[in-house]
Amino acid sequence: MARTPILALHLLVALCILSSARTSSSASSDVDGFIGCLSAGIPPSLIHTPAANSYSSLLMSSVRNLRYVLPGTTRPLLIVAATEPAHVQATVVCGRRHSVRIRTRSGGHDYEGLSYASVDPDQHFAVLDLAELRAISIDASRSEAWVGSGATLGELYYAAAAANQTFGFPAGNCPTVGVGGHLSGGGFGALSRKYGLSADNVIDAVVVDAEGRLLNRSTMGKDLFWAIRGGGGESFGVVLSWKVRLVAVPETVTVFSIRRLRNESAVDLITKWQAIAPALPRDLYLRVLVQNQQANFVALFLGRCGGLVDTMRGHFPDLGMTERDCQEMSWVKSTVFFFYNTADRPTEVLLDRRSANYYLKVKSDHVAEPIPRQALEGIWTKWLEQPEAALIMLDPYGGRMGSIPPSATPFPHRHYLYQFQFFSFWFENGTAALERRLSWVRGVYEDLTPFVSKNPRAVYVNYRDLDLGTNELEGNVTSYAKARVWGEKYFKGNFKRLAAVKSMVDPDDFFRNEQSIPPLPAAKG
Ligand SMILES: Cc1cc2nc3c(=O)[nH]c(=O)nc-3n(C[C@H](O)[C@H](O)[C@H](O)COP(=O)(O)OP(=O)(O)OC[C@H]3O[C@@H](n4cnc5c(N)ncnc54)[C@H](O)[C@@H]3O)c2cc1C
Ligand SMILES: *[C@@H]1O[C@H](CO)[C@@H](O)[C@H](O)[C@H]1NC(C)=O
Ligand SMILES: *[C@@H]1O[C@H](CO)[C@@H](O)[C@H](O)[C@H]1NC(C)=O
Ligand SMILES: *[C@@H]1O[C@H](CO)[C@@H](O)[C@H](O)[C@H]1NC(C)=O
Ligand SMILES: *[C@@H]1O[C@H](CO)[C@@H](O)[C@H](O)[C@H]1NC(C)=O
Ligand SMILES: *[C@@H]1O[C@H](CO)[C@@H](O)[C@H](O)[C@H]1NC(C)=O
Repeated sequence: MARTPILALHLLVALCILSSARTSSSASSDVDGFIGCLSAGIPPSLIHTPAANSYSSLLMSSVRNLRYVLPGTTRPLLIVAATEPAHVQATVVCGRRHSVRIRTRSGGHDYEGLSYASVDPDQHFAVLDLAELRAISIDASRSEAWVGSGATLGELYYAAAAANQTFGFPAGNCPTVGVGGHLSGGGFGALSRKYGLSADNVIDAVVVDAEGRLLNRSTMGKDLFWAIRGGGGESFGVVLSWKVRLVAVPETVTVFSIRRLRNESAVDLITKWQAIAPALPRDLYLRVLVQNQQANFVALFLGRCGGLVDTMRGHFPDLGMTERDCQEMSWVKSTVFFFYNTADRPTEVLLDRRSANYYLKVKSDHVAEPIPRQALEGIWTKWLEQPEAALIMLDPYGGRMGSIPPSATPFPHRHYLYQFQFFSFWFENGTAALERRLSWVRGVYEDLTPFVSKNPRAVYVNYRDLDLGTNELEGNVTSYAKARVWGEKYFKGNFKRLAAVKSMVDPDDFFRNEQSIPPLPAAKG
């Protein structure tokens, strides 16, 4: 069976030649002063200005969405490739002093490129690249690890398993995603029904705040520690590293991938899946990927084949899963399988930080009630047979996800049945392709309106979507009233608390982007 195109992509090494970046700046920022200030504390070889040969390759090193390197996008004034915490502190202090904003980049996977680019020509910023701050140290006796934000999920999975095959970590299915963005936005993956989000398993963190101070859990206070575990890191400071709880996985787990065409009951099976998958035992994660007019049911079971067959027979006999579908392997190997759709690769692929470059647009949703079969059938007929059809991912919640209170972390969407992603990626450069892809993704989203979450239409912040709204200024800070439009979709009632934390830790709104959390305006008395 052919691998899906997204997998083949990841084998490519991107070739990217960029035209020189804009060097203009807003009237108030003093770029020369900023560079002078940086140079006092950071070796010049780590400060990459557009004039340097290294600038383009460093910029592209973790760009994951080519839409945000097209002509017309705003590029960083310069990139600081920090190798020590002090470089991060100096960058923040110098940025404040010379009015140059900072965007932090860990793995660069932001769907809307916010860690390295802007579509707004008035935005001027330097990028603080954390890729070199990626040390991982594991305390096996306590099942804990300190992980640098610049590490990738694949590096973390590999290191955990190398310390002990029975260590796992609940996080996303793409190994090149960065720890920094992922943990600060939540972090959902194949172990989340058993152990919750990545953010639910963070026990300490080291942060550089807007004053350039280094803080840990006990010195940052409980509000900031709450905010960085799902509120998005970019609004509150720079998270340098995370202390996480490693979770227990069996030495042998079992996976399967079962594909069904439309004439093989795909729509019927998806209809049933909606109620079944969120109610399965926590040891079983069963997602659906719809692509090329095929539904691919992909599972991770924390146990052996026999137990999986019994569980599937008991809960979802219609899928017809048998022993022949089982593939037993280590948990770390299952993370390879989940990404490459084959376990036929060494686990060392998890250490490969390169990724394919494509144009990307994603919209996402949450579902509270199963969508009627007729409606799914209608979506398939109208949308899935088009050449622009995106990859649609259906990921079940339930289990541990549903048992954590919605205010425990900023991520409030705990009680839904499942999440949807309409993940469109393509390689053709040009506005015609762009328009076709965007209108496909937006059209499906529109047509699903009656069947998905409402008031607000719930979106997970790690699936960033600028269609939901972008920030505007009110005086010299981001408008809270305007930000609520997108902010309550991501955070519901937690949005206000995030804004209150922002007022405490960054009242001047230094850490700012198109969808950063604004300070909460003082109550008028
Ligand atoms: C191919 C692909 C697959 C994905 N799969 C999953 C998945 O399975 N599950 C899931 O939950 N998500 C998934 N995501 C989404 C992913 O979790 C988010 O895009 C995440 O924010 C990426 O983190 P990053 O460090 O790579 O991104 P970056 O682009 O570096 O950062 C994202 C945002 O966080 C900020 N930020 C980054 N690092 C820090 C830091 N150290 N301190 C403060 N702020 C910081 C950035 O400024 C930016 O605003 C996927 C994304 C892609 C592109
Ligand atoms: C790995 O962890 C298991 C379960 O906690 C433990 O029994 C075993 O001794 C550990 N193995 C090693 C090599 O440390
Ligand atoms: C946090 O930092 C303080 C001050 O630097 C230090 O005394 C304390 O031990 C640190 N706490 C932890 C848990 O590391
Ligand atoms: C289903 O359709 C495919 C082509 O789309 C065809 O090759 C296959 O034979 C059909 N299977 C059944 C069971 O009708
Ligand atoms: C895409 O096309 C534009 C103009 O047509 C060109 O300037 C740009 O370099 C191209 N980008 C890529 C990645 O090929
Ligand atoms: C923003 O404006 C307020 C009053 O309008 C002022 O007190 C504050 O100093 C300003 N902050 C910055 C960073 O300019």
